[in-house]
Order: sequence, then C-alpha cells, then structure tokens
Amino acid sequence: MQKSQTTQVKSLTLANHQTSRWHSFSSQDEINQAAVKRILEAADEAIAQYGSFLIVLAGGSTPKSVYQLLAKEQADWAKWHVYHNDDRCLPVDHAERNSKMARDAWLNHVAIPQAQIHDIPAELGNVEGAKAYAETLAGVRSFDLVILGLGEDGHTASLFPGQAVDNSADAVPVFNSPKPPADRVTISQNRLNNTHEVLFLVTGAGKQEAVDNWLNGVAIPATLIAPAQGVDVYCFGVKVAA
Ligand code: 6PG
Repeated sequence: MQKSQTTQVKSLTLANHQTSRWHSFSSQDEINQAAVKRILEAADEAIAQYGSFLIVLAGGSTPKSVYQLLAKEQADWAKWHVYHNDDRCLPVDHAERNSKMARDAWLNHVAIPQAQIHDIPAELGNVEGAKAYAETLAGVRSFDLVILGLGEDGHTASLFPGQAVDNSADAVPVFNSPKPPADRVTISQNRLNNTHEVLFLVTGAGKQEAVDNWLNGVAIPATLIAPAQGVDVYCFGVKVAA
C-alpha cells in the first residue's frame, strides 16, 4: 500500500548508511494526526500480511497526545501486539513509568488483549528486567513499526551519548542514565533495527540542537537506528533546513 503523502522536506543518508526522511508539520495537531494516520496504515498493512501488528512504543512525553488520539480510533485491536522501546526502573504504577503513560493515555481504553500488551518489567530492576524482557522478545518476528522519541542530547530509547552500545541481547540494562532515573531497561540497538519501519516523533525547540547535530552528521545515538527501509522523522517546532 502506498504510504500516505506527507510533507517530506528532506532526505538524508549518513556515513553509517542511516537514511532518514524528514517531515515538517505546522501544528501539534497536524503532526499528531499524521502520526495516527501512519500508525493505523502500518497496522492495516501488517495485519494484511501477517495477521498481526507488532508496534514498539516510545516513552517520554512527546507521544502522549498521539496515544490519546489512538484511544479514540477504531482498529482491529485484537491483532495488535504492543511492546515498549524502553522503561524506567520504577514501581509499576509510578507516574514516570512509560508503560503507565501508554496505558493511561491509550491502552486502557481500547480492546487490545492484555496478553498482547508487553510492558517491560522494569520494576524488577535493570538487570532482571532486561533478562525478563529479552525472554519476552525471544522468537518474536521483526517489528512492524517502532516509534521513537529524541532527547535533547540526541538519545533515543535509552541509548545515551557516551554509553557503550550493548547488543548482547534483545533487551539490555542501562546504568547511569543521564535522564533520570539512572537505571533503565532498553531494547537494544540491534533489536530496534530489526523492524520494517521506524517513526521518530520530534517536537519543541528544545530538540533543535539534537536535530541540527543529526542533520550535520554528528553521531548522536538516534543515528544508530538504521533499518534497511530507513527512518521517518516527523517534526514540529523544530527547523529542518531543506
Ligand atoms: C524516556 C524515553 C526517551 C524519550 C526522549 C524524549 O524514557 O524518556 O525513552 O528516549 O523518548 O527522552 O522525551 P520527551 O518526549 O519527553 O521529550
């Protein structure tokens, strides 16, 4: 199925062969609507091909308004399987847990079977949580869509600048995260790259330096995400020089 036409303003291929397609939107509502549209299209495509849709959610605050819109949509929810690209080592119901944000904004309001919502058990701690999530991911086919955010320092998921890349398993512990809390669990770079499609959601002037670095070929962690099909970066409130 032809991808919906969006406002692509730039395409970039870096020395590490990451291809990124940049889409600028003129309002929060426009970027949210475009993200929801693409997510629902990706679901239809995957369900038509595999009978299921494997989506990996971004944490942080940016995607919340997209998740809130998805809560109002009609979809073949019974065929959706939801994963998280990372989570913070906090109690299950802690307000800062990425899984709690997604459930409150969206997942508690649609009929995705609970057995198909795979929270990262980060409450076990980073080492035990990563071990358990790696078992959850074992044997899971390529993801269909990975949603990612971008940190002001260029991090994505819980892949942070200056931290050794750990691809020892599909899910790995993070220590000393510069973004609290220090202990996290993240899906590894390699497993995140085992996906058909990646959609970054980047909003707000605070991300301008990270975007500039990205576009100028600075090896920020977001450039580690280099699946064969490239990545799409939906932007609002940041300048993307064409
Ligand atoms: C987290 C996320 C992290 C996030 C970026 C952007 O646990 O915080 O995994 O990678 O996506 O830091 O966060 P905001 O969307 O809040 O700017």
